[in-house]
Amino acid sequence: MVYKTITAFFKDNYVKSPLLIKAPGRINLIGEHTDYNQGLVLPASIEKGIYFAVSNNQDNLINVEAFLTQAEKIEFSLKGEHKTFTSFWGNYFKAIIEILVARNYPIKGMNCVFGGDIPIGSGLSSSAALCCGFIYALSKISDKEIPREEIALIAQEAEHKIGLNCGLMDQYAVLFGKKGNAFFLDCKDLSHSYIPINLEGYSWVLVNSNIKHNLAVDSEYNKRRVSCENIVRDVKKIRPEVNSLRDVTLKDLQDVTKDNNATDLKRAKYIINENDRVRRMMNALTHGDEQEVGAILKEGHWAMSTQYEITTKELDTLVKIGESLEGVIGSRMMGGGFGGCTINLIETSKLDSSISSLLKSYKKQTDIDAEYYHLAIDDGVKVFE
Ligand code: GLA
Repeated sequence: MVYKTITAFFKDNYVKSPLLIKAPGRINLIGEHTDYNQGLVLPASIEKGIYFAVSNNQDNLINVEAFLTQAEKIEFSLKGEHKTFTSFWGNYFKAIIEILVARNYPIKGMNCVFGGDIPIGSGLSSSAALCCGFIYALSKISDKEIPREEIALIAQEAEHKIGLNCGLMDQYAVLFGKKGNAFFLDCKDLSHSYIPINLEGYSWVLVNSNIKHNLAVDSEYNKRRVSCENIVRDVKKIRPEVNSLRDVTLKDLQDVTKDNNATDLKRAKYIINENDRVRRMMNALTHGDEQEVGAILKEGHWAMSTQYEITTKELDTLVKIGESLEGVIGSRMMGGGFGGCTINLIETSKLDSSISSLLKSYKKQTDIDAEYYHLAIDDGVKVFE
């Protein structure tokens, strides 16, 4: 258990018994790239997470030690004046401290040891867990707790500073998730609700294509966002009340066709349809209609593959193999794209045989070993007892 190692290391090196915080990763059932278009999403926080053992100190320093692929230690000053680090996590924490300092937030000296079991670059939002967990820890250590809504905004700003112009789905899922439930979020007004996703006789499984992405560096993610903004700008000329693709209709797209390139139009159409898939998914889950759930997953995947163009040939291969297996009701790539995991709905009685066929065929077709994880939905960021 990762958290036991982290706690034991903390006690050996920092004497005090720490406060232990867990920040989970997230999955997403449907609603991809809709968040920064003020659209709808249906993610959930998961059991895999990042654990932070923390205590306050009187040194005016934030001492952080990471237990990731390799052990590493960084000392941050409370003023937030740091050079760029080589470790990715150092730069996220640097960005967070800078934001908090700029807002005159009273941060205090903290000792922190962290590590976890979320595979990095796999579409499970390890960076949102890293940022939200760290901000939550800093806020617990200082005298002023930061409300979760504000933690989400600070974590999003840190991502933007690093270079990913993301929306708020990941941060909200990581902060507000609830055990056993999917989390429905309307990114237009940030209202949310919970919905159980248990379909009797069916199981949810994640399959990691083991193609890792780096969305901030690749910036294909950011290009999608620009396409969406191009269309909104043009529709706004005809209908000034429009502020995001959430307000745009298929008819609007026809009206601006001649002034826009086909790629931007195709991407905008994808977003409009994806919001609709979230509504349909909510309905299918409420009615326990697993066949419709599976159909929406597949439809969502191929729309991401052919219209929004954010999948990889390996992810397409995983979904295609699933389509040929009787036990797999549906599957799709999850998250920002260009690598990572698929989420699969599988008939429980055919679970073992389906997973084994999936992994075997994938290896045969791509020469890559995929991994799988059973999906367990757990609570959002919290003090871990
Ligand atoms: C990444 C971003 C999110 C969201 C997803 C795609 O995870 O951080 O804001 O846009 O991609 O749905």
